[in-house]
Amino acid sequence: MSEFRAIAIDGPAASGKSTVARRLAEDWGMTMVNSGAMYRAVTWEVLRRGINPSATGEVIALLSEVDWGCLVRNGQTVMQVGDVEPTMKQLKADEVNGAVSLIAAIPEVRELLVQKQREFLTKGDLVMEGRDIGTVVFPDTPYKVFVTASEEVRRQRRAAEGAEDAVEERDKLDSQRKASPLRVAEGAVVVDSSELAIDEVVAQVKDELIQLGWKE
Ligand code: DC
Repeated sequence: MSEFRAIAIDGPAASGKSTVARRLAEDWGMTMVNSGAMYRAVTWEVLRRGINPSATGEVIALLSEVDWGCLVRNGQTVMQVGDVEPTMKQLKADEVNGAVSLIAAIPEVRELLVQKQREFLTKGDLVMEGRDIGTVVFPDTPYKVFVTASEEVRRQRRAAEGAEDAVEERDKLDSQRKASPLRVAEGAVVVDSSELAIDEVVAQVKDELIQLGWKE
């Protein structure tokens, strides 16, 4: 058991969970970890090496060939792939969007990254966002939130960011995979952000966390 506390924020793509997590971390003075960036970094390296993302054996072999570092710097989750640090822009590229769900479905990839995610809790209180934070990474935390929004709203948000991102397809793969599928953790508070401004979502999430016993 860690002496530190974790807030788990899960939800589908473009649900608003990253913004909520970032705001909580800023307002309450905690570290925010974006676990999706870690799956994206592995995917980026797979593609950079010309490995077919469906060639599971080759992807698994790559895991032990590279030194994967993970840290938070200036509020950004940074993955080190050997001595290279892919930028957020590279991690958000359309090619990565198109392949990340395949990579994230591989149990060996998840095992490696979950271990790194748990290490963050040895350093201080944190907010971590992803798909399986409340179900798998920190199942014992009482502070679990599931942020969601209608498919229509999520598609519009991604289009407004100019991203070529088939969010429905990605969510379908993320929800239907065998290894740690996206689902609402037991005891999680569900917040629907479809009809709310971001400030309202943040306020609602804070209220819920305080009711769950969170103290600043
Ligand atoms: O949060 P994001 O959209 O940047 O995440 C990218 C992908 O990474 C997502 O489609 C599925 C995977 N992912 C995951 O499987 N588990 C997590 N905890 C975070 C992300």
